Amino acid sequence: MSNIKHVAIIMDGNGRWAKKRFRPRIWGHVRGSSVVSEIVQAADDINVKALTLYAFSTENWSRPVEEVSILFKLLKKFLLKEQARLLKNNIHFKVIGEINGLPEDTVTLIKETESLTAKATGLKLTFAFSYGGRCEIVRAVNQFQIQNPSKLMTEDDLSSRLYRPETGDVDLMIRTGGEQRISNFLLWQMAYAELYFTPSKWPEFTAHEFKRIIEHVSGRERRFGNVTPQASFQLSVERAENNKAVFVQGVLS
Ligand code: IPE
Ligand code: IPE
Ligand code: MG
Repeated sequence: MSNIKHVAIIMDGNGRWAKKRFRPRIWGHVRGSSVVSEIVQAADDINVKALTLYAFSTENWSRPVEEVSILFKLLKKFLLKEQARLLKNNIHFKVIGEINGLPEDTVTLIKETESLTAKATGLKLTFAFSYGGRCEIVRAVNQFQIQNPSKLMTEDDLSSRLYRPETGDVDLMIRTGGEQRISNFLLWQMAYAELYFTPSKWPEFTAHEFKRIIEHVSGRERRFGNVTPQASFQLSVERAENNKAVFVQGVLS
């Protein structure tokens, strides 16, 4: 079984994909949104427990208003189209981010989809929309301070106040589009994530490539600051031999 339980994806490269085809950036977003269902299905197939998709960052608000409004429309279209399938596949859907600035009908649809799937016990699917990692951390700190004015905060206090604490730490972060940066995504949750950057632009990303990446990364050794199990074994053998020598010396002297 794979040790990759929580996968996060920065779905990047829509605009460049469209530009290369002499199309407007918006075309890239439309094509990109049709890839989402395929990747959700693939994650479910291979038994990933949580999938978090970066769809719109707090910084993306500074894009031209037409582009921003197309992204809202695509989110709405996705939810309308996929609601039934999410339910059927026992997928628990949630949006993380500051969604209050979104059009009212989009917010209503998000809430409706969230409550419709709230009892699902399968894949935890999260859309990061109007999301910023720094904003998420500051929000958690403020919440804690209001609730505990004179206490110092622990790591658990912070983790439990993130937007969706139950998804836990990220095991693997994939970024499409070729850039090698994190762009304010899940800063706290990615402390020990494996990172994978693919040159494929999001509209050309496939379930096949997704599964290949998971397979590839599952083979990596994750040490979490420790030494390799083999080195650790070697060290304990040396330590045991050392102790034995000290003991024998003690008995003989
Ligand atoms: C990712 O694609 C989608 C969003 C950020 C909303 P981009 O729109 O950033 O595409 P590029 O990176 O400019 O190609
Ligand atoms: C990151 O992509 C955000 C999303 C994919 C939603 P950007 O295209 O906004 O990131 P930068 O500007 O290249 O860092
Ligand atoms: Mg981009």
